[in-house]
Amino acid sequence: MAEAVNHFPRGFLWGTATAAHQVEGNNTNNNWWAWEQQPGRILNGHKSGLACDWWGGRWKDDLDRAAETGQNAHRFSIEWSRIQPAPDRWDESALDRYLGMLRGMHERGLMPMLTLHHFSNPIWLEEQGGWENDDTPAKFAVFVRKVVEALKEYVSYWVTINEPNVYAYSAYSAGTFPPGIKNINTAFHVMANLTRGHAMAYQIIHQLQPEARVGLSMNYRSFFPATANPLDKFVARTQSSIFNDLIPSAARDGKLRLPLRTVRVPEAIGTQDFLGVNYYSRDQVAFDITRGAELFGRLYYPDGADLSANGFIANEPEGFFEALKWGLQFNIPMLVTENGVEDQSDQMRPRYIAKHIQQMWRAVNFNWPVRGYFHWSLVDNFEWERGWTQRFGLWGLDVETQTRTRRRSVDLYAEICKENGLSNAMVEKYCPEALKDLFPD
Ligand code: FCB
Repeated sequence: MAEAVNHFPRGFLWGTATAAHQVEGNNTNNNWWAWEQQPGRILNGHKSGLACDWWGGRWKDDLDRAAETGQNAHRFSIEWSRIQPAPDRWDESALDRYLGMLRGMHERGLMPMLTLHHFSNPIWLEEQGGWENDDTPAKFAVFVRKVVEALKEYVSYWVTINEPNVYAYSAYSAGTFPPGIKNINTAFHVMANLTRGHAMAYQIIHQLQPEARVGLSMNYRSFFPATANPLDKFVARTQSSIFNDLIPSAARDGKLRLPLRTVRVPEAIGTQDFLGVNYYSRDQVAFDITRGAELFGRLYYPDGADLSANGFIANEPEGFFEALKWGLQFNIPMLVTENGVEDQSDQMRPRYIAKHIQQMWRAVNFNWPVRGYFHWSLVDNFEWERGWTQRFGLWGLDVETQTRTRRRSVDLYAEICKENGLSNAMVEKYCPEALKDLFPD
């Protein structure tokens, strides 16, 4: 077969994404650390512990690996509880550490993208009611001002809040994240406060740094009606509009359209310079009268789906194309701020990567404004309530010894980054089982 390459536009960003609590280690002053100490909260009683020891300095080696394997950008987050360990105290040395990391990224040719809130809160904030408390957006804004003043020289892309939809749902409706509340109305209230926090952060960043690019990272989930039955279709549509649309729509027009009422957040109008899209998988949705708390939808992966090691993710690349198509409505550039799969043995990851990148290439060919891609993740890290049972890294991690192992996906992704494209030769080499699908004769 002749060489065929799916090329991306010049200047496309290729990176990986990480988050503070998942990689730093010894994050003793936040809500997740406290949660990990409670029996039954984390699968197998796992703890973040040293995580990937980035706080101890191992970010240097990991970012060396990223740069050496062709990446030109890195998305990471900073830990509020380190920078503001108490409501009336700033830790300048923590900010200095982050400055060091940012300089380190620039030295390595990695354009940093910085996330200000990625699921974790200082314990003091959580004790004051966390994101349920209507004063929290303003407290977040104070933190954001401090950070932007200190770091703006090195950052031009800011993500205010990572996956506010997942955070509100998991922490306040499913109860799997701290504070473990199971009340959908509380989750809606929290969504409104997250939207306000985002809007305030957006305004402050632009005040201090007019040329900054500021956005949210949304987790886009594709919801596919299980049958042509109108009830299945209705439930799939409802799930999608609540999970996917609510917050980015409010950041466009200031209206948070909750199921039975609309909350006005006028300060959020026009507060996205780009849309961050995190995409992992797609669900089938069937109407189920018994599932009131889940808005009458039963979600499941179809029979025969290509499932990840723990069955957490189905390899559904068309849903990724759908996510990018959905993002078009906001009329702003898009960045894929996360996409990846848990796969310790790296059997599935190469074809997951190749198939998703080809869908992104299709989008780029329609001239959709997709500017970059951050794979989740660079190295295995602490996967929230699923602990160390899920391994999303291009590089494997032995948590005890801190040894990294090079999975084959490292080399596939390196070839993609260096070529700025995906070729049939790469697919043949790393995931021949996907060749017919991706590059038919
Ligand atoms: C996303 C989170 C990220 C990581 C991946 C697997 O929802 O933003 O921190 O846990 O899932």
